[in-house]
Amino acid sequence: RVLRIALIPGDGIGREVIPAGRRILEALPPSLGLKFEFTRLDAGYELFQAAGTSFPDRSIDVLRHECDGALFGAVSSPTRAVKGYSSPIVHIRKKLDLYANVRPVKTVATDANPIDMVIVRENTEDLYVKEERTLEDPEGGVYAEAIKRISARASSRIATMAGKIAVQRQKLRESGVASIHKSPLVTITHKSNVLSQTDGLFRSCAKEALAAQQFVDAGVAVEEQIVDSMVYKLFRQPGSYDVIVAPNLYGDILSDGAAALVGSLGLVPSANVGEGFVMGEPCHGSAPDIMGQGIANPIATLRSAALMLEFLGEEKASAKIYAAVDANLEDGKLLSPDLGGKAKTEEVVNDILKRL
Ligand code: NAI
Ligand code: MG
Repeated sequence: RVLRIALIPGDGIGREVIPAGRRILEALPPSLGLKFEFTRLDAGYELFQAAGTSFPDRSIDVLRHECDGALFGAVSSPTRAVKGYSSPIVHIRKKLDLYANVRPVKTVATDANPIDMVIVRENTEDLYVKEERTLEDPEGGVYAEAIKRISARASSRIATMAGKIAVQRQKLRESGVASIHKSPLVTITHKSNVLSQTDGLFRSCAKEALAAQQFVDAGVAVEEQIVDSMVYKLFRQPGSYDVIVAPNLYGDILSDGAAALVGSLGLVPSANVGEGFVMGEPCHGSAPDIMGQGIANPIATLRSAALMLEFLGEEKASAKIYAAVDANLEDGKLLSPDLGGKAKTEEVVNDILKRL
């Protein structure tokens, strides 16, 4: 099988870690029968300054018509709003309808407080429709308000994806992938005690979608939790979560919070998933404070490459990458500085390739 993959390094350390993603894909054993064709696409703030766009429409067409998936590094965003600039990642998600953001957060098996969860965040609506306005306040001054839009369609769709991920994870466990969980569990997150219509709709659609026969047959248990108590439990007993499904805003916050539990942003991957397209993306940014030093942790990107393969149906290949990364971490001799080590990006990648 030939997989056509776009490489989108972006800015800063995106350019140091995306080449590592390419190398690990190319290093997969030939017995897996996978071949890769890579296309490099520019994106980000530097491109915007040079060309007036952070991601040209032509590149969207390339993704849509000529690629099966993509690996996206990171882009820098100016701290003040700059006229005409908008994040390419948001643009790509919209144009390709990448409606789910999937973020696995996992420790290695030897960790004292093992965690193995995946957060499935709705990626198209909620407060992120950005319909905000500022109005005169009759009582004086101004007030601002924003629309929180929740649809039945998007809520059902994201919950169904969470259910499928729970089933898939269970299959992997049964095939020998180590995990702290014995059976699949999906936790629906919301705040429907306060927002009974919007979050209430999310909750009821998610429950209904997860009650489908395919999930019942696969033994997927379903629970729900109000988002604030979820944060508490996530920090106290992170090991109790398997798959979490959430509307956009809560999912955004929970997924960064969960990433903090495993020690470094440099470890955590994500995938933006739609029908027929997946884009892997490390969850960190462009890290201007360490760029150019060759010390960025490549693991978030390597795991994002594995996650991309998982959604392309190549679980064997992804399992090999995860295992090689875990072996490097468990060994602990070649770690990048964010994990307390002294190894350069290059040395970490070489060690992982050797284990692969
Ligand atoms: P950041 O994730 O770039 O960095 C936060 C801290 O984590 C820094 O100290 C950095 O050195 C460290 N770090 C991040 N990734 C690392 C890695 N792979 N290895 C070792 N250390 C790592 O977030 P920050 O500093 O808030 O943002 C920097 C720029 O990145 C901004 O312009 C921001 O807008 C952008 N950004 C882009 C994202 C994206 O493209 N998806 C996501 C988050 C931020
Ligand atoms: Mg975020």
